[in-house]
Amino acid sequence: MIVSSVTYENWRNIVSSRVALTGGINVLWGHNAQGKSNILEGIYYFARGRSFRGAKERELVGFGAEYARAVLSFRRNGYENDTVLEAALPLAGKKKLLRNGAPLSSSAEMLGTFRATLFCPANLTLVTGGPAERRAFLDIALSQISGEYLARVRRYAKLLAERGALIRRAADGLPVSREEWDVYAEGLAENGVWIAAYRKQYVKLLDEAAARYFAGMTDGAEVPSLVYRSHADAPELPSPLFAACPAPDPSALAEKLCANRDREIAAGTTLWGVHKDDVFLSLNGMDARSFASQGQQRSMALSMKLGEAEIAKAVGGEYPVILLDDVFSELDENRRRYILDSLTEGAEGERQIIITSCEPDVIPGNRSARVNFRHVKNGEVE
Ligand SMILES: Nc1ncnc2c1ncn2[C@@H]1O[C@H](COP(=O)(O)OP(=O)(O)OP(=O)(O)O)[C@@H](O)[C@H]1O
Ligand SMILES: [Mg+2]
Repeated sequence: MIVSSVTYENWRNIVSSRVALTGGINVLWGHNAQGKSNILEGIYYFARGRSFRGAKERELVGFGAEYARAVLSFRRNGYENDTVLEAALPLAGKKKLLRNGAPLSSSAEMLGTFRATLFCPANLTLVTGGPAERRAFLDIALSQISGEYLARVRRYAKLLAERGALIRRAADGLPVSREEWDVYAEGLAENGVWIAAYRKQYVKLLDEAAARYFAGMTDGAEVPSLVYRSHADAPELPSPLFAACPAPDPSALAEKLCANRDREIAAGTTLWGVHKDDVFLSLNGMDARSFASQGQQRSMALSMKLGEAEIAKAVGGEYPVILLDDVFSELDENRRRYILDSLTEGAEGERQIIITSCEPDVIPGNRSARVNFRHVKNGEVE
């Protein structure tokens, strides 16, 4: 997927600007607070249906303006024409989303049309943060490539919330029938083992991708490992990502949920299941969260994000656009060079990387000849 241009109107500090982009590497450079991240935010909006910084839509509207508008024109591999997505976000009233001029009823309808992977400094929490950060990463990444995963995660969340109410009811001394208890245990277990099967396969693919990136970046000096940790893990979990597979067996997880009724009532919450999952990250055998350096942690988080893009390509047949916000500043030249090479290798016109940086010379050595540089200054793009 290649973005050919983005037009902004009153999008944060960008009053009116059209940014032309090319396949391969694009560098948006400029001083702090000029609008580089705002540009990426506008592109990523069309992939996620919201701001990657967690901003509300009306916060995207330029100060003093009535609406924000962005128009993204991109080409899918093998297609003749660009697809055009448009978002008009008014301060008051309903937002408007259009695909090739035709109105879309909601962000949900837009999702899946344009695909992008974004890496920004805040993603360091993938390594330094708690398990919920890593679960959210898996959920977002997997939901983008598997409709079944998305459906199962939603169902799981709903059942978990209902079961929580059930547990609290029991804790208050109100009657809860055996049947009710079992129905929720079975529902959570059935959806939970599917979620676990997807996550386990996904983490294995991420582990392989990280191993490749670290081998290249550090000449084999640093060996990463990503291991899926789950109550629902089992040696016989199937691998559902690339082909149909038999349903995983939920009985072990269901039994655990049924057998520990009293402990769960005492705790007031569901104690077992994939809502407690984590991914254990290590470098050279040591916990990356506690022992890795900043650059190593950044490399680990980045390799997970780049792995995400590779898996999306393997499943969907096409690379998502890769957006790297301010990522290279903390990486040494060897790491930068390897990452840029691996991202562009043999995929000229097929892959697109958009990088923001305060300096134009983020690109090491002679590679800069083929790079599309854009200077961002005070909300304008030169
Ligand atoms: N709704 C808005 N209307 C107008 N300006 C805004 C709005 N929201 C944010 N800004 C301004 O946009 C400016 C540019 O922000 P942006 O995050 O894109 O900078 P940047 O170029 O990425 O800088 P850095 O190198 O520091 O990351 C900021 O000064 C911010 O105050
Ligand atoms: Mg920025």
